[in-house]
Amino acid sequence: MTRILVMVGSLRAAASSAALARALVERLPDGVSADFADIGSLPHYCADHDGGDAVARLLAQIRAADGVLFVTPEYNYSMPGVLKNAIDWASRSAYQSVFRGKSCFVISVSGGAMGGVRAQAHVKYVLNAMLADVFPFQEVIVPEAPKKVVDGRFADEPTLAFGAAAIAQWTDALKRAA
Ligand SMILES: Cc1cc2nc3c(=O)[nH]c(=O)nc-3n(C[C@H](O)[C@H](O)[C@H](O)COP(=O)(O)O)c2cc1C
Repeated sequence: MTRILVMVGSLRAAASSAALARALVERLPDGVSADFADIGSLPHYCADHDGGDAVARLLAQIRAADGVLFVTPEYNYSMPGVLKNAIDWASRSAYQSVFRGKSCFVISVSGGAMGGVRAQAHVKYVLNAMLADVFPFQEVIVPEAPKKVVDGRFADEPTLAFGAAAIAQWTDALKRAA
């Protein structure tokens, strides 16, 4: 079984990024399973302590995963602070963290027309600081995401078909690398 960990960059209950992540997980290829990280439970990063159980759980989840899927909105031209906080917790010690060599796939959403492309670029840039292995292609960028959520479910079929195919490319690569 190929295991992926999903990290969603928005904590709001009706988040379009979370709805998209759930819908894409439903379309994972056979032989691929997903777990979700609870980044909202993490304390603020502070090097004076280890962050306790929430951080230990996140680190264990990343360690156990063959790859990490980020689905994040853009906040103020970058990634949400809550997501950067989670990445910072998982980034220590420098160059030796659980992200070292970890395959990562990044999807961005936004309410507007840009699809969170700046946030996506920033997440990928930050992942490079941890020597993560960022999957380059296809890139999945989802504009006007909240309009595509109906009754809590992500309902835009072209986005789901494209996103699921892109993730299948990635998970196929994970399977080959295993
Ligand atoms: C604090 C904040 C900052 C935002 N900044 C941007 C931005 O820079 N670019 C953008 O396209 N959308 C921005 N938005 C709009 C979000 O893309 C939109 O609210 C999106 O639906 C949030 O994702 P979610 O539905 O997963 O919660 C911002 C929203 C918030 C709450």
